[in-house]
Amino acid sequence: MKPDLGAATRGRILYGGDYNPEQWPEETWQEDVRLMRAAGVNSVTLGVFSWAKLEPRPGEREFGWLDRLMDLMHDNGIGVVLATPTASPPPWMGHLHPDTLPVTEDGRTEWWGGRQHFSHSSDTYRRYAAAITEDLAARYGGHPALTMWHINNEYCTYDWSEGAAARFRVWLRAKYGTLDALNEAWGTAFWSQGYGDWAEIHTPRQAHYLKNPGQVLDFKRFTSDMLLECYVAERDIVRRATPHLPVTTNFMPLWVGQDAWRWAEEEDVVSVDLYPDPRDPLGAQNGALVQDMTRSQARGPWMLMEQAAGPVNWRGVNHPKPRGLNRLWSLQAVARGADAVCYFQWRQSRQGAEKFHSGMVSHAGEEGRTYQEVKQLGAELAAIAPEVTGRHTPNDIAVLHDWHAWWAGAQDGRLSNRVDHPDLLRAWHRALWEAHLTTDFAHPEHDLSAYRLVVVPQAYALTDAAIENLLAYVRRGGTLVSGFLTGVADEDDRVRAGGMDARLRELFGIRTLHEWWPLDAGEHVECDGFRGTLWSEEIDKTEDAEARARYKGGELDGLPAVLRSGRAWYLSTLPEPAAMRDLLAGIAAEAGVRPVLDALPEGVEAVRRGELLFVLNHGRESVTVEVPGGHRDLLTGAALKDELTLGRYGAAVLKAEPDAQAEAVLAP
Ligand code: GAL
Repeated sequence: MKPDLGAATRGRILYGGDYNPEQWPEETWQEDVRLMRAAGVNSVTLGVFSWAKLEPRPGEREFGWLDRLMDLMHDNGIGVVLATPTASPPPWMGHLHPDTLPVTEDGRTEWWGGRQHFSHSSDTYRRYAAAITEDLAARYGGHPALTMWHINNEYCTYDWSEGAAARFRVWLRAKYGTLDALNEAWGTAFWSQGYGDWAEIHTPRQAHYLKNPGQVLDFKRFTSDMLLECYVAERDIVRRATPHLPVTTNFMPLWVGQDAWRWAEEEDVVSVDLYPDPRDPLGAQNGALVQDMTRSQARGPWMLMEQAAGPVNWRGVNHPKPRGLNRLWSLQAVARGADAVCYFQWRQSRQGAEKFHSGMVSHAGEEGRTYQEVKQLGAELAAIAPEVTGRHTPNDIAVLHDWHAWWAGAQDGRLSNRVDHPDLLRAWHRALWEAHLTTDFAHPEHDLSAYRLVVVPQAYALTDAAIENLLAYVRRGGTLVSGFLTGVADEDDRVRAGGMDARLRELFGIRTLHEWWPLDAGEHVECDGFRGTLWSEEIDKTEDAEARARYKGGELDGLPAVLRSGRAWYLSTLPEPAAMRDLLAGIAAEAGVRPVLDALPEGVEAVRRGELLFVLNHGRESVTVEVPGGHRDLLTGAALKDELTLGRYGAAVLKAEPDAQAEAVLAP
């Protein structure tokens, strides 16, 4: 059995974050542990960017400082998530071995001096990475402070170098076997692109005009696979040393370059870094989306590896979190399945590129509001941990998402570059969030039988297996709702006959898809009862299908905008948010899915996890929420009957209690 997050949490919620003590004199370390203990910090991630410190010259090792830190953490009861430092090679590596440096699309080298300047395809890089990983595993594998391994950091590089081209050819040979098969899959008959020798194939470098979409799509798959090979190589090394300890690497939310479904299968713990903009009115929804996706990839508890206690420093304008927001968003993550709430980083830096990025201890230090709030949250997480950790609550609704469909659909040469896959995911998830419906995410080929409702915001390319899966799901009684541009292409990005797979057209009751009519920014189409945005379609329906809403006026007057055929629904436009919410809420109700709580005020989120009910007020005004029955709020200890009042950014973690007991407490 693979170790899971429980091996590290041992019933606690992991609380802490990236700790970069090499930036500070050792006296500060003592101060750090004092403040950590006071804040309930029980986990730190060490060594993420320490390669130059650990290996100052090729092959040398300097472990003394890390030995002292590991001991210090252990002496203070703080567990260590130990990172392999391979996201940022030391300067000597690029200097001595230019083949370790990645090359951009237009052939320029990415130099050291920042971070993530490694070529995933470089044998030299991989050799050095394996060697330092071996030595870290050998030295610290038996250290009592060690609880988990963190491989690299946010794998996200692309590489168009000669080394990458050589590996790309190997990858393509393994995939296609013959050049004929590759030429066929890439459609190279178009524009005289036929390959006569494997050596002619390069990465899709800068070209005069539109590139071959098959080549670009495979390059995205290849990039994800190469990074995954790097991860797996390091993972296997630490796993050999410590088979009982879990291994993770931290994802960026909805990062385009990694097929995270595939990656998650290789991880013991799925972890993510999440930085919603405190000013974004949809920050809570966007956070919820990432949390739902991460939980679904983990199929259980997951780790919030990084968040910011205050401002980040990489947006144009970087806003702090108003009082209470860090707590609220942290509890939101726990509600949606996190068993670890961690930050980048422990102590705000005074030098380097991120000195204006917040830390759990800000420049203001112990007295600062940031640390004081971090401390309060640490105590609250400790209080709820016994009722929370290890609990996994599946949902009745799944949102489908697939990286390959995203990659295939996001290429140049389309009818509208305004159609953005993540934007569509957000629009659909937001509609469900606003309808107080909680959702999982799933891949189109996953077993969907446990869901009452499956929604497909957009799956431009689908394999035959995925299509058969969707058909079987509906045949067995599931309700399916799909957005436009679904099932347009196969896995090679070859447009299916008729512009959309015939089986899906039949499922949704589309007789003919005549033309797509994309909409400009600010343009909308009138439909019965709502306005459509972004896209519209000229379709004829089959006799049996029902047009639940039609276009009104314009070229598409009278044609179906929302089509229903049995339990299969098709939306040929994107309804405005309120209409989308009402539409999905209605379909969910018909499929037997109810909101977590009825009559929730706007901006209030209710989520069940195990026995607990989390109620979160994302608004700036206080609200009273009806929560039928007697409950105890585990955060305050208060007993409640039938309703609850939450202040601005207020949160409650409720456990049902027999009414009599609740009333007895409330009676005076
Ligand atoms: C993450 C990264 C951290 C830090 C943080 C700042 O992407 O993993 O090392 O840079 O962003 O927000």
